[in-house]
Amino acid sequence: MISVEIKNLSKVFESRFGRTKVQALNNVSLNVRSGTIYGLLGPNGAGKTTLIKILLGSVYPTSGSARILNEDIANYKIRAKIGYLPENHKFPPFLTGEGVLRLFAELKGVNGKDINNKIDELLDLVGMLKWKKVKVKKYSKGMMQRLGLAQALVNNPQLIFLDEPTDGIDPIGRKEIRDILINLKNEGKTVFLNSHLLSEVELVCDRIAMLDKGNLIREGTVEDLTTSKQIYSLKLEKELSPGLLNAEIFHTGDATYQIKVNDTAELNSIIDVIRAHGINIISLNPKKTSLEDSFISIIEDSNKLTQKK
Ligand SMILES: Nc1ncnc2c1ncn2[C@@H]1O[C@H](COP(=O)(O)OP(=O)(O)OP(=O)(O)O)[C@@H](O)[C@H]1O
Ligand SMILES: [Mg+2]
Repeated sequence: MISVEIKNLSKVFESRFGRTKVQALNNVSLNVRSGTIYGLLGPNGAGKTTLIKILLGSVYPTSGSARILNEDIANYKIRAKIGYLPENHKFPPFLTGEGVLRLFAELKGVNGKDINNKIDELLDLVGMLKWKKVKVKKYSKGMMQRLGLAQALVNNPQLIFLDEPTDGIDPIGRKEIRDILINLKNEGKTVFLNSHLLSEVELVCDRIAMLDKGNLIREGTVEDLTTSKQIYSLKLEKELSPGLLNAEIFHTGDATYQIKVNDTAELNSIIDVIRAHGINIISLNPKKTSLEDSFISIIEDSNKLTQKK
């Protein structure tokens, strides 16, 4: 089953009188399967928040369509089954943590005698139970994020949109949030996560989309996206003369290089050239490419292509 289906979605923001235009999304299509954690990655201004806002109906797309939980996004009733943690959210500072959750529960039409238990359960889930009676103006940024996550879960949503959920949270807190997301997935819920913290995303997401300047440049599993190029660290007996190799090779230290290759055949042909020039190889080590490495190289490649156009 598919929980989010996006087809050819574009968004152009125009200033008044159309003087400036920003293409925030350009013909983006993707699907999110139910019961998975999906990560949307991209540098600042890539269009991640715009995409979530379109799915939640607070920004209108310029063209294209999208469905969530098998309903068109124009059907506002579907939002009752959705949880949302906005980017840079703020809560009324005079409310306590408990008060915030009660307010959002009531706004979302959640009521009944179980509400107090639900509030405690959610505060406990995000590690904030002991701060229940404290006003949110005393909360740190990380505590606000935790409360924001609890708020997103108050209506027991099937599909949860989280815009930079670990923003401002320390490493232990981030691990706790990851565990919460995995638990939500194990309960059969679908999580759609915006982030620029790549190391985070690769630890929890089943699939990932990479956005850059509104364009979907890659989509796949973490494995698909990290194994596109292999990176090796190469130490030689002496420096290579410039232009000797026609390859992606970067000088990283004294006669030490990093090479990026598509496959081992390319690696071997590079070694052949080096050896043919009588240069000895001291060491050659494969480096595991993290999602971060591959993200940077994919964004760089995509920028090179746009510059050539
Ligand atoms: N309401 C708006 N009016 C005009 N331009 C906008 C509006 N909202 C977003 N933009 C522009 O659209 C582009 C995408 O912005 P968006 O906030 O979606 O990016 P993002 O990927 O969430 O970035 P970040 O990582 O910084 O949160 C940016 O160039 C931004 O300036
Ligand atoms: Mg954003």
